Amino acid sequence: MAEDTFRTDATALDDGGALLGPILFLDDARDGQMHLSALVFTRGIDTPEPLVCAEGHYPFAEIAADVGWRVLRARFAAHTRAPITYRALGQSHTIRTGYDGDLNIAFASCNGEENGDLDRDPNERNAMWARLRDDHNARPFHLLLHGGDQIYADEVTLGHPLSEDWPDRVPKDPERADLRDLRAHLRRGFFERYMTFFASCPAFMELAASVPSLCQWDDHDICDGWGSLPRSRTYSPVGQTLYEVAREATLIFQHGCTLDDMPGRFHDRTGLSLGWWIDLPDVRIVAPDLRAERTRRQVMGDVGWSMMEAVAALPPTRQILFVSSVPLLGPRLSVLETAMVVTPKMQEYEDDLRDQWQSRAHRKEWRRMLQLLTDIAADTGAHVTALSGEIHLAGRATMPLGEHCTLHQLIASGVAHRPPPLAWAKVLGSLAALGEDPLEGAPITIHPLPGQAGRYVAERNTLVVTRTDEAWHAVWDLEVSGKTEPLALAGA
Ligand SMILES: [Fe+2]
Repeated sequence: MAEDTFRTDATALDDGGALLGPILFLDDARDGQMHLSALVFTRGIDTPEPLVCAEGHYPFAEIAADVGWRVLRARFAAHTRAPITYRALGQSHTIRTGYDGDLNIAFASCNGEENGDLDRDPNERNAMWARLRDDHNARPFHLLLHGGDQIYADEVTLGHPLSEDWPDRVPKDPERADLRDLRAHLRRGFFERYMTFFASCPAFMELAASVPSLCQWDDHDICDGWGSLPRSRTYSPVGQTLYEVAREATLIFQHGCTLDDMPGRFHDRTGLSLGWWIDLPDVRIVAPDLRAERTRRQVMGDVGWSMMEAVAALPPTRQILFVSSVPLLGPRLSVLETAMVVTPKMQEYEDDLRDQWQSRAHRKEWRRMLQLLTDIAADTGAHVTALSGEIHLAGRATMPLGEHCTLHQLIASGVAHRPPPLAWAKVLGSLAALGEDPLEGAPITIHPLPGQAGRYVAERNTLVVTRTDEAWHAVWDLEVSGKTEPLALAGA
């Protein structure tokens, strides 16, 4: 797509919107210091003034460019003893610190829709971001966790002969020159999606300038069902090109880095798997990559599992926030899978179920993950809370972790994706009544959210997790029903 067809809020751009940002990312937290990346975007050739924080000046350097935008990054570090104030693009921003005291952490997922997302009315699309921004202004967030589907890239494959029919039909051995052309086409599509969101959602940009983001991707950051598609698609030249471009865009726009300068929080800095963890006082945020190594037979490969083994060997912490882009706990979906095998009309949904931990194909690996978390809880006394998106509903579940702990699963999805029909929430709710116990003696229970009658809520939503003194709570913001009462987590 040519640069002049780049779709965004043209007025905003022409009237001084040639500069966007900053967006903050938490690169790492060590020895009382925050290591941060600030991304800014410009359509001009001038490089913005260096970022200023305390006495330091940190220059911006270009890390990528496309569709008329240059992406520039400044990396900086600051002590967390006092709130961090920094200056970039002529404006000052303050980051809430005090990570050893009360915490206020926002979680959002599913920021978009499969079809026509660029054409939605930004006010409708971004209503939940505006509410989250208002909440931040009332009580600042320490961190903003993004639990997957930060963009919906599904349509980037349209408009090019090699990928037009993805994933139904792909050419077996395309010419190298055509593949190079495809790569450029896809890259423009990804840049367009990210930049359109940033340019048309001032509420997000306001949040992102003072709340460091931490992201983990899911399928739509690549394409619908990535990893659950047949090998003939995934490993085709077109599939691999799509993956490489998606990963490049994810690193740039969701992590503020490129493949050769991934920050310290990543377990594998060669980028084979994008799993990471961050240690803050008495809380560890762990985000395995459930997409990079996914196949129809496995959720994670050697790299992902080596990270989880490394996490299990870390010194104890009190609370683990486990970002699982697809829910770790859920109803017994194998019933639905069986129904799909015998019902041809439903087979198109089979890949969606393959994406779930509960799929029969992944049951052994699911048990391995649950056992690993059980062992951590039993060995260290840590509480574990899983944060997930993916299903475009709000929900929650619990499972005993050994004798003394409870694994809480909190599902918040989506921030921009509209909910599926109420009937689907009811189907899931009735499946929940069947029960599921992947680990013997540790049944999963699906609970309604505080104040809700049904087990799944079909409204757009976001989630806030707090630590006050030593107690952890979760509050969902449901688009229609409003905020739930706080749900007690640790020790509950
Ligand atoms: Fe989603």
